[in-house]
Amino acid sequence: MTKRIKKIGVLTGGGDCAGLNAVIRAVTKSAINQHGLEVFGIEDGFEGLLHNRMHPLGMEDVSNILTHGGTILGTNNKCNPARYHVEVDGQMQIQDLSEQVMGHIKSRSLDALIVIGGDGTMAVASNFARRGVNCIGVPKTIDNDLESCDVTFGFPTAYYVATEALDRIHTTAASHHRAMLVEVMGRNAGWIALYAGVASGADIILIPEIPFSIDKVCEKVTDRSRHGKRFSILCVAEGARPIDGEQVVARYDHTSADPVRLGGISRIVADQIEKMTGIETRTTILGHIQRGGSPIPQDRLLATAFGHAAITTLMAGKENRMVVMQGRNVTDISLYDVVDKQRLVPMDHPYIQAVRDMSISFGD
Ligand code: F6P
Repeated sequence: MTKRIKKIGVLTGGGDCAGLNAVIRAVTKSAINQHGLEVFGIEDGFEGLLHNRMHPLGMEDVSNILTHGGTILGTNNKCNPARYHVEVDGQMQIQDLSEQVMGHIKSRSLDALIVIGGDGTMAVASNFARRGVNCIGVPKTIDNDLESCDVTFGFPTAYYVATEALDRIHTTAASHHRAMLVEVMGRNAGWIALYAGVASGADIILIPEIPFSIDKVCEKVTDRSRHGKRFSILCVAEGARPIDGEQVVARYDHTSADPVRLGGISRIVADQIEKMTGIETRTTILGHIQRGGSPIPQDRLLATAFGHAAITTLMAGKENRMVVMQGRNVTDISLYDVVDKQRLVPMDHPYIQAVRDMSISFGD
């Protein structure tokens, strides 16, 4: 028989993005109002669960946060209690502290966890799901790369911000007759670059899924110049790479489960364009601007639908599921199906075909 749910914990894990507070609000309000549950907000993702840092969330606590960026709970994109970095006698050691987390879940009488995060957070959650904790996932990431989910919340705001930046770069590029590159986030997936590139009318879009040739990129810039377009706009994914080259790593964070932080490919491409075409070139790396600030309405709606669905799924007696958007419907899949998978841009995506047919270049 399924255990009666009375008290739940909610946490936000991984990198922040717009819409986290909107999910926390929807989860808390639905849980209290519709089902009379007690809700606990866990601080700083799994770090808070490990150190027993959590506090009750009431209706008042989540009032007026729908439009706010960030997360009222705090987050952490490093903590995996099963592989926790501890300093012992000046040396870093990796320890499995899962049982400490289980102890806190038990002592706080949490019957389930609502885990808001990306694939890394779902991987951490699956360790506790296997130990008997019912975890319901809510798909968050600006990268839009979660398996079986057509759109994650945070992605719409990220590509909106990137589009606006590209629009602004457009006018300055045209005035100075320059090639201008805007580098966007996305890790190994080109969703932000593709959507922002198409929405802003970029001339060249470089995404990780389509390795580029610098000769082809320069050909396009020169060709435009020959036809009287003395400027070019390039939207470059941080994970883009040349046909015979590697992705550019900005830094390694060895305390993180995924230590690679990409960034800087646009500077290399810009130098090559300037050298090979003689056209003055500039680069803007957008960075965390894409994650901060108020969610656009689409993200507020998605976040509300996901947060509400997480509670409905839980109260329907389901266990270890992640709510997802498929077509126009919010449904749910096994939490385990998301772990260690990445949803990259498929080559039959309608925007890929549109870009090719409209003579926008992928640099290939
Ligand atoms: O996964 C979200 C994301 O913003 C990626 O697009 C980016 O590569 C990475 O996180 C940056 O991580 P950090 O905030 O640790 O620099």
